[in-house]
Amino acid sequence: MRTHHLAVIGGDGIGPDVTAAALAGVRAAADRYGFAIETTEFDLGAEAYLRTGVALDEASTEALRRHDAVLLGAVGDPRVTPGVLERGLIVGLRVAFAQSVNIRPVRLYPGVESPVAGVSPDNCDLVIIRENTEGLYTGGGSISHPGTPNAVAIQNSITTVPATTETVEFAFRLASARRKRLTLCHKKNILVHAGQLWQDVVDEVATRYPDVEHDYVHADAMCLHLPLDPGRFDVVVTDNLFGDILSDLGATVQGGLGLAASANHNPRGTAPSMYEPVHGSAPDIAGKGWANPAAAALSAALCLAGLGERDGALALEAAAASVLAELPALAGPGMGGDTAEIGRRIADRVTDVDPAKIGDPE
Ligand code: NAD
Ligand code: IPM
Ligand code: MN
Repeated sequence: MRTHHLAVIGGDGIGPDVTAAALAGVRAAADRYGFAIETTEFDLGAEAYLRTGVALDEASTEALRRHDAVLLGAVGDPRVTPGVLERGLIVGLRVAFAQSVNIRPVRLYPGVESPVAGVSPDNCDLVIIRENTEGLYTGGGSISHPGTPNAVAIQNSITTVPATTETVEFAFRLASARRKRLTLCHKKNILVHAGQLWQDVVDEVATRYPDVEHDYVHADAMCLHLPLDPGRFDVVVTDNLFGDILSDLGATVQGGLGLAASANHNPRGTAPSMYEPVHGSAPDIAGKGWANPAAAALSAALCLAGLGERDGALALEAAAASVLAELPALAGPGMGGDTAEIGRRIADRVTDVDPAKIGDPE
């Protein structure tokens, strides 16, 4: 039997709960499609950091590396200085495992209501492809005279042709397999150096994909066009920080952060890819059972797809979409069940859903 070895980092806040719910769906898909999942839990996140003073040690990184994929819940905790876990653990793993491409689908499933008027499943099916290791996330910089009226902070942004090309190549290949439209989103009217590099790379890669038409939208204008006219977009390729911000906006358009999935993808296959919801640890609702596990389940579906389990991936996506369509609310106390119950419903549905009918509320 095919066996996939999954590393699991539940993390902080709602992370462990949504991850456990997603894993129930993964196991149901494994049962239905005849493969095996072996999981290794990693004790990483705020508790481990508060105990050890280290966000991600070398031994954990190497142990994670030996797995076929990593499933992550979320990290971030009010007791830990912002950035320590987010940079140390998540960005650390994205860089260590060369996960240069972040795939963030924005899809409104049938039966789910978008908070934005006029958005429907027919006009909301796009994918944000975010460069995942560079830009302002490289973290270099300094602050002089901190805490004084003369403080000056410098935050470096690095953009290289290799990582940009890898991301843009992936985006064109995806667009070529979809509706053949690619939009570069940047802010090249102000960030002239990085913006020019992105545009040059897009223009160069475009010559290899003559079937894909491409255009350009500034990041600020994208905040208007994406919610008002999502049907205009197929694949949006963008840099790390713009992609981070736009994917929360995209999540809102598709019904909320509890529904938005992501894959931190290593396109060269040199290290495991990592799958996580777009949302964070949500300390405001942690422990209440109000977190929607659909984003984690849909991320786990992306994980199954990455592992080559296409049928299992489609069944898990269809199951999550079908359960979403019947929830009275998409998050919070009125969700129609707590996180674990919704997870069980998704897992049960994996067993008998028709994977071809994604999001069909019937
Ligand atoms: P957040 O995504 O955790 O929460 C934003 C809002 O969305 C909150 O009101 C929250 O209750 C709600 N929400 C999030 N996920 C939900 C779900 N599954 N179901 C229902 N509601 C949900 O963002 P934040 O509050 O800005 O950040 C909280 C912490 O998480 C911070 O420490 C931040 O750095 C961290 N963070 C981590 C990740 C990650 O691990 N990938 C991503 C984003 C933020
Ligand atoms: C995300 C998160 C992360 C990011 C943080 C937690 C490092 O917001 O995955 O969207 O900024 O990329
Ligand atoms: Mn984010």
